[in-house]
Amino acid sequence: MQYEVVLPAAGSGKRMGAGQNKLFLQLDMKPILIHTLEAFQSDENCTGIWLAVKPEEREYIRGLLEQYRITKVKGLPNGGKERQHSVHSCIKEMQQVEIVLVHDAARPFITKPTISRLVEVAQEKGAAIAGVKAKDTMKKVSDGVIIETVDRESLWMIQTPQAFRFDLIQQAEDRAEAQGFLGTDEAMLVERLGHQVHIVESTYDNVKITTKEDLIFGEAILKHRSN
Ligand code: CTP
Ligand code: MG
Repeated sequence: MQYEVVLPAAGSGKRMGAGQNKLFLQLDMKPILIHTLEAFQSDENCTGIWLAVKPEEREYIRGLLEQYRITKVKGLPNGGKERQHSVHSCIKEMQQVEIVLVHDAARPFITKPTISRLVEVAQEKGAAIAGVKAKDTMKKVSDGVIIETVDRESLWMIQTPQAFRFDLIQQAEDRAEAQGFLGTDEAMLVERLGHQVHIVESTYDNVKITTKEDLIFGEAILKHRSN
């Protein structure tokens, strides 16, 4: 089952504190952005990549695409102030496709089994997102005091990719924009339409590179995979 993917890459990486877009930092001598792009470039079911970028970084990114022979990019629209705006600007430029994945460019360790399962469930149900079960005991806290211990069985830590039928994500994004609603992921926008979102169990190594420590985890994951 074929799909196209939207990769928001227009952040500034404030929490990384590298003084540049963290996606240009290297893991195993290759930019994080390229690791992510290669996961989709090498997936035969992926028929197009849409990359939301900062205008001032577009030319540099074009150079990287050429250098690493990433040929599936169909467009590099301007990102927006928030991640949701960046995703929306890609959706607005896309032609009708059946299934769209949205995936953080900052999650370079995504693997094919998770992608194909998401595409499968999205095709059948309309919306499917990646997540892993919470491992630690979870408590609700207010002013430094425990309010309650939440039943961990029902708690999932949500990742990307998030996969949708095109018309569904398009409608969800358009409505959120019209109503000035800002969500933290795409699923939230679809949930607001009253549409069920299904979860696909992913893996704990599908981490988002956010802070300095994540670079250490990232190097370890790559080393483990190459062995
Ligand atoms: N992103 C984007 N447009 C924005 C903000 C974020 O396209 N306005 C992208 C980032 O480039 C990243 C993904 O969304 O690939 C997830 O965001 P996050 O991990 O928060 O990255 P940054 O926003 O760059 O980091 P920070 O929040 O620490 O500044
Ligand atoms: Mg951010």
